[in-house]
Amino acid sequence: MAKPTIVVMPGDGIGKIVTPEAVRVLDAAGFHANYVHGDIGWDFWIREGNPLPDRTIDLLRRHKLGLFGAITSKPKAQADAELTPELKGKGLSYFSPIVRMRQLFDLDICVRPCQTFPGNPLNFIRRKGDGFEEPKVDAVIFRQNTECLYSGVEWTDPPAPVRAALETHPKMAAYKKVAGKDLAVSCRIFTRTACRRIAQAAFEHAKRFGYKSVTVCEKPNVIRETSGMMEEEARKVAAEFPGIRLWATNIDAQMMWLTKNPEDYGVMVAGNMFGDIISDGFAGLVGGLGFACSANLGREVAVFEPTHGSAPKYAGLSPSIVNPIATILAGCMLLEHVGQTELAERIRGAVQQVVAEGKVRTYDMLRLAGGPKVFEQGAASTQQMTDAVIARL
Ligand code: NAI
Ligand code: MG
Repeated sequence: MAKPTIVVMPGDGIGKIVTPEAVRVLDAAGFHANYVHGDIGWDFWIREGNPLPDRTIDLLRRHKLGLFGAITSKPKAQADAELTPELKGKGLSYFSPIVRMRQLFDLDICVRPCQTFPGNPLNFIRRKGDGFEEPKVDAVIFRQNTECLYSGVEWTDPPAPVRAALETHPKMAAYKKVAGKDLAVSCRIFTRTACRRIAQAAFEHAKRFGYKSVTVCEKPNVIRETSGMMEEEARKVAAEFPGIRLWATNIDAQMMWLTKNPEDYGVMVAGNMFGDIISDGFAGLVGGLGFACSANLGREVAVFEPTHGSAPKYAGLSPSIVNPIATILAGCMLLEHVGQTELAERIRGAVQQVVAEGKVRTYDMLRLAGGPKVFEQGAASTQQMTDAVIARL
């Protein structure tokens, strides 16, 4: 296979810190790749009025593989105020470059693995009798990444034709007397193709990695049309995978069950909003933001990232305190995507050893308040954590 080229987009804040650490691990593991830098984030909004410059889009179009750190987003007024004076008053408005990237390349499949590393002091524990037990969580969430309530089709005070169209539905009678300015509508849009693609991806993953069940998590008893379509498509796909069971749960009940019996779940599949919710829920059981990684997969382009943001309050600390593991694990997902499963397993194994030994822990793993004092309190730096992982490879 030709040597892949990876577009590395560190972005803002701690994105600039953790992304090079992940690349360092990929290199140390012997992954043969070229790396090109992609500009993205707040600096480019300020200087160029565009947080996702065309040159970065071109790089992704060409190389098809991205490793992304994190970006900073700020409210509209602040975004306008920080724009360079020459660009002010030109009608530019800030947009989230990662959301734009997902839409532009139709990165409709979001994969978020949530797996326990034994020995992680942040793992979920459950009271049992007089003691505690620590069930091993191994869930992978497949979240539809482009539609649902994130479609962006929404209004406060819907224009007259929209209001008129809505009023063709008998249930709108309840809102007849509400003034336009007091009425907000966000559309939950699902398409059959996207439902089918996310369900298919979930089942294929279950088959490839030996999971026994896929759970579709929506709310079809109430949100009949959209949740109903997702469940219907999941059932059709399930028929093509006779060895894997399909379970269907409702999002509200699922949130309770994931804190009662999270070990019972394997692959989960959901629309954008509920997928966002369950993936954060499961991530909280296995270490939180320092461990949560994700893949955004389209038909051609794939971008891998830690789930966390740019954590600006820690971006300026030297040495850095943040946990690089989420981004290192995003690198493992990239490796699996290009067929380097063994390398991915080696890196995960190294992370697992470091966590199990418990000698090197970043501040989050020690439940410390972040800041420069964490080193006196026994925390390892970002670089020390990476070094420890590399040493176990
Ligand atoms: P955040 O994820 O940046 O940070 C929240 C808190 O989580 C931090 O203060 C820190 O305590 C902890 N944390 C995050 N990453 C960590 C790591 N690697 N190791 C240890 N602890 C870690 O979320 P926040 O503070 O809400 O947002 C900060 C900025 O990031 C905002 O501008 C926001 O818009 C942006 N953001 C960007 C995302 C992305 O690029 N995908 C996702 C979420 C937020
Ligand atoms: Mg989220």
